[in-house]
Amino acid sequence: MPAVSPPPAAPAIHARLAALGGPKAVTIQRPPWPWPNEAEIQAVLATLRKAPEDIANLCSARGGGPGEALEARMKRDLGVPYAIATCGGGPALHIACMCALEAGDEAIVSPYTWGQTVSCILQAGGVPVFADIDPETLTLDPDAVAARITPRTKAIVAVHLGGIPAEMDRLAALAEKHGLCLIEDCAQAQGSRYRGRSVGSFGHFGCFSFGSTKNIAAGDAGMLVTRDRGLYERALLTGMHPNRTTHEIEDPERRRWIDSLIYTYRVNVMSAALALAQFDRLEELNAWRRANARALVERLRGVPGIRALRLPERLDPAWHSVHFVFVPEEVPGVTRSQYVQALSAEGVPIFTGYDSAIHLRPAFQEKRTHFGRGFPWSAHPRGGEIVYRAGDCPVAERRCGETGLTMLGGWSCRDIAPLLDQIGVAFRKVAAQLDQVARLDPAPAV
Ligand SMILES: Cc1ncc(COP(=O)(O)O)c(C=O)c1O
Repeated sequence: MPAVSPPPAAPAIHARLAALGGPKAVTIQRPPWPWPNEAEIQAVLATLRKAPEDIANLCSARGGGPGEALEARMKRDLGVPYAIATCGGGPALHIACMCALEAGDEAIVSPYTWGQTVSCILQAGGVPVFADIDPETLTLDPDAVAARITPRTKAIVAVHLGGIPAEMDRLAALAEKHGLCLIEDCAQAQGSRYRGRSVGSFGHFGCFSFGSTKNIAAGDAGMLVTRDRGLYERALLTGMHPNRTTHEIEDPERRRWIDSLIYTYRVNVMSAALALAQFDRLEELNAWRRANARALVERLRGVPGIRALRLPERLDPAWHSVHFVFVPEEVPGVTRSQYVQALSAEGVPIFTGYDSAIHLRPAFQEKRTHFGRGFPWSAHPRGGEIVYRAGDCPVAERRCGETGLTMLGGWSCRDIAPLLDQIGVAFRKVAAQLDQVARLDPAPAV
């Protein structure tokens, strides 16, 4: 008779909590991210070796070289006619806002995002007007946006947070109806789709980041895409070297503006070469991101205190980070901070996420950006009367202060099933000992 193997050990959910000195439930190391593979390293080396024959392999000022090849790849993938490789996602957003706004114009934006979705408006002299988010998709609520439109509104900046596409149909309809520029912040959403179509291809501008935590991680780089020739030429004139604009600007009126009075936002060719090579495995990486996010949700199903977002079918995120909702009613007496503390001690990579809504940060409370400059409010006719208050965006504020939970990251783009199993055990261990969790230090987790 074949030997009967012993049943697997029951998960140690009753062991002492790691926060109280017990063993950690998660012992498997998270895989590193980003990790350039050999093909990507060779692509960078090949670029450097080609530099003596063609300077475009060392500097993208004139266009051509890896920057142009990366632009071609983005145009093909997104089905858009124009693309400009930049040195980051923030610079791409800044260029877009420079094309959309005059000083003192209003731009509507979410307060639940990374700062650069908003700072690009300030940098262009625009006045940010915050609209609330939808509690399930965490992106701009189109009804809240509609309610914030005034005669001074010139743009909507919609972020696809964590890769979750914003409601592009309704936002595009609002932009069309009111003659607004729609700017998509796709920094966290390379490969996300809305109704089957790639984000970044809906608005007047799509702005991407290839920064080191992003779905394409190439050190520092970004991309601006547009479907409009006029906007493309204006964007080139804002951020690209005259060596490039001289041979790209066609419109005679715009040719007058070819100048070195620009922002130096061209892409670094090493990052462009790295990003381009990484595009070859984007589909595979994103397939893992999607599969691991699904698997994580499965493992956490039924765990008290946490639930997945309820996303409509039309949204297909290529998860950059996976957001959850803390459900305090299911864990009476336990705060979000204690819950996160207990899980972090077990080795679970869990965070509260953005923990202050942008309109409540000092820059907006005091209307003093970049160390006290009165701009842009000084450029708005009623700038002195504009006030940013608690309660302006209650859903985003509650998400930041009470219900936000965020997990996974770039490192999830490979097979991490055993790690996910351990994470599932850690959650069940914490859930089985809520009385102990409720006694942890209630100070906010960092
Ligand atoms: C939502 C969002 N927008 C913009 C940016 C800026 O991108 P970059 O760091 O490439 O300038 C980031 C970067 O983290 C981001 O997460």
